[in-house]
Amino acid sequence: MREALGFAALTTSLRIALTVARRAALIVARRAALTAARRGALTAARRGALTAARRGALTAVALAALTAAPAFAQPETLYLRTLASNCAQCHGTEGHAAPGSALPALAGMPRDYLLAQLQAFKAGTRTSTIMQQLARGYSDAQLEQLAAFFAAQRKP
Ligand code: HEC
Repeated sequence: MREALGFAALTTSLRIALTVARRAALIVARRAALTAARRGALTAARRGALTAARRGALTAVALAALTAAPAFAQPETLYLRTLASNCAQCHGTEGHAAPGSALPALAGMPRDYLLAQLQAFKAGTRTSTIMQQLARGYSDAQLEQLAAFFAAQRKP
């Protein structure tokens, strides 16, 4: 009888020990799962951010390439811009004179008006301080190109 009681007590304590061990194992497993899930979520978030950043950078590069392409793709455009850059010192970049400048802003002026002034400077029929000397340095074809270039620029 004593032996049976002792066996029963042993079985009970074994069961309790098993239950405790199982609970402990469950808690450890749950914690591990939570940590893994958290890490997974973080990695996913990081990947998402990276992909977004990469996409943003790619779009920026593509946009820059698109914007830069017309300026560099055609030698004629480059030639025109170089020709017109001779006028930037006084009339501003692409004819956008500095605010408050006494010099005329050429950007967006009508092509025919610009050409007529340039030809008049060259012929000496429009008196000027400096433009008559400058205009003589350009061929008629170049004056036409300059007039067209500045007429095509956005008005300030
Ligand atoms: C050193 C300064 C200077 C440079 C460089 C210069 N200009 Fe001028 N530009 C003037 C001045 C000053 C006037 C006003 C007329 C004058 O006194 O010569 C003027 C006037 C003009 C006008 C007449 C604008 C109007 O409202 O009637 C045109 C067109 C013009 N310039 C075109 C050009 C072009 C094209 C170039 C480049 C090839 C050029 N200018 C380079 C100083 C300059």
